[in-house]
Amino acid sequence: MMYTDYIGIFDSGVGGVSVLKEIVKILPQESILYFGDAKNAPYGDRPQEEIAQISLANADYLFGKGVKALVIACNTATSSAADLIRKKYPDKIVLGIEPAIKPAVEDHPGEDILVMATTGTLKLGKFQKHMNELKDQANLIAIPCPGLMDLVEQEDMQNPAIHELLEQYIGEYRGRAKAVVLGCTHYPFVERQIREILGEIDVYNGAEGVARELARNLEEHDLLSISPRAEMVFESSDERTETTDFYRRMLEL
Ligand code: DGL
Repeated sequence: MMYTDYIGIFDSGVGGVSVLKEIVKILPQESILYFGDAKNAPYGDRPQEEIAQISLANADYLFGKGVKALVIACNTATSSAADLIRKKYPDKIVLGIEPAIKPAVEDHPGEDILVMATTGTLKLGKFQKHMNELKDQANLIAIPCPGLMDLVEQEDMQNPAIHELLEQYIGEYRGRAKAVVLGCTHYPFVERQIREILGEIDVYNGAEGVARELARNLEEHDLLSISPRAEMVFESSDERTETTDFYRRMLEL
């Protein structure tokens, strides 16, 4: 089957569903083909070249299915492969997601801001450049969170291991940090636990901005759906229905 009036979205797993949620709110009439690359997850612990190749293969797969636009709903894949994908598909709408550091710095000048993301995202030149540009305006603290995405993928958001891992990574900033940037699309699913540990804090997530940008782009290219029925198709590279059922459940949560 071809998915010509669909928007293609991919992530290494369920994380992109946090972006999908925002897209559905703003563009409820659009049909979606969501692809979770469970077989190759996690991306964040892989070398950049590998993440780039895997991400490009996902883009090839979704464009091969005919999607009219692509959303890279993964910070790690965006930093590693967005330029590569845009180069290969110059006439297509290709959007990515990056840690929303700028609005956090604007709201919290001179304060401590945590930037939680995968090791991969934080290591890359693109992110380092962003940090350097903004470092005089606030105290940006990069927190790599290996293992956190894996716990989210275990499907139990009440798992005490999530709290324990978060305590280990961000516990020392309780009462000190004023803002936290969720720089991995898996982390909004544990936002409640992050707030529990850090107390009064502003949380920044780039997903809504991506959804708005997508709406703008579709309108500009005259590609907004006119179909009366929006379809939602979930696929995962591990080809397990349990995996795609999980994605669906998290969308409805
Ligand atoms: N959800 C992804 C992100 O936004 C990456 C998780 C992973 O595969 O390590 O960075």
